[in-house]
Amino acid sequence: MESLTSIEGQVAVVTGGTAGMGEAACIRFGAAGAKVAVIGRTPEKGNAVVKKIIDAGGEAMFVKAECADEGEVKAATKTILDTWGRADILVNTAGGFFDAPPLEDVTIDGMRENYDWNVIAKFLITRELVPTMKAQNYGRIVNISSVAGRTASAGSIEYSTNEAAIVGMTRRLARELAPFGITVNAIAPGLVLTPRVLRHPPEVLETRAKAIPVGRLGKAEELAHGIWYLCTPGSAFMTGAVMDINGGAWTG
Ligand SMILES: NC(=O)c1ccc[n+]([C@@H]2O[C@H](COP(=O)([O-])OP(=O)(O)OC[C@H]3O[C@@H](n4cnc5c(N)ncnc54)[C@H](OP(=O)(O)O)[C@@H]3O)[C@@H](O)[C@H]2O)c1
Repeated sequence: MESLTSIEGQVAVVTGGTAGMGEAACIRFGAAGAKVAVIGRTPEKGNAVVKKIIDAGGEAMFVKAECADEGEVKAATKTILDTWGRADILVNTAGGFFDAPPLEDVTIDGMRENYDWNVIAKFLITRELVPTMKAQNYGRIVNISSVAGRTASAGSIEYSTNEAAIVGMTRRLARELAPFGITVNAIAPGLVLTPRVLRHPPEVLETRAKAIPVGRLGKAEELAHGIWYLCTPGSAFMTGAVMDINGGAWTG
């Protein structure tokens, strides 16, 4: 019987793999014997993640790309496919938001930039890698959305709009790609302790933690555990779903 959990020898591509839950997913994949392409904009951070994977006995490479730039994404995916010849797993974590202005202060540029970072960045690399996954008749795609796209409870108008759009894209792609053995799911994290979140003052994080039923913020490794499940062969019957990993902050 084929393994439900082994991803050994598979090629895993992680955008935003240079920090936070993307980094944790890269490390998890490397430890599971996958070849890991760490995509990000900052070589120092990316090479540090690659070193951790290689030091632990795994195989990885850093590929520099701004994921919202079509030319850079095309070049990055070419490098990966030329090097390893396949792509089994794509995890799209690149994204986020930077400030939360009220509606009156939201600009068209702000709306468009946020759409580029959160939606276009996921669309571009998916479009580049899906033909290879189709040819393999196998693929696992995970898009990181946010609880903000489910409840609009945090973030900005730009961010909530785009995190909901990621769910729409995920569901559409799931239907389109299911006949090719490719699953497409989203994860909607609650507040997770990553470099981005750690910029907030400790007292703010403490208050936020108290509002979460489990009484604390999430850990990047806990998100990586959910990502890993959705990227295993055994998750084949789950597609078009949103996995809520939020400590009970939102229960539907
Ligand atoms: N942390 C949370 O509480 C939380 C909650 C809900 C959802 N999320 C979502 O989860 C995802 C990951 O967030 P995180 O907090 O784990 O990570 P993070 O600490 O923000 O790190 C993200 C990494 O991705 C890289 N990156 C960002 N945009 C990129 C782009 N356009 N192209 C290439 N690389 C890019 C960044 O590196 P460089 O800037 O050096 O390139 C950074 O190393 C985001 O989409 C975020 O919206 C996070």
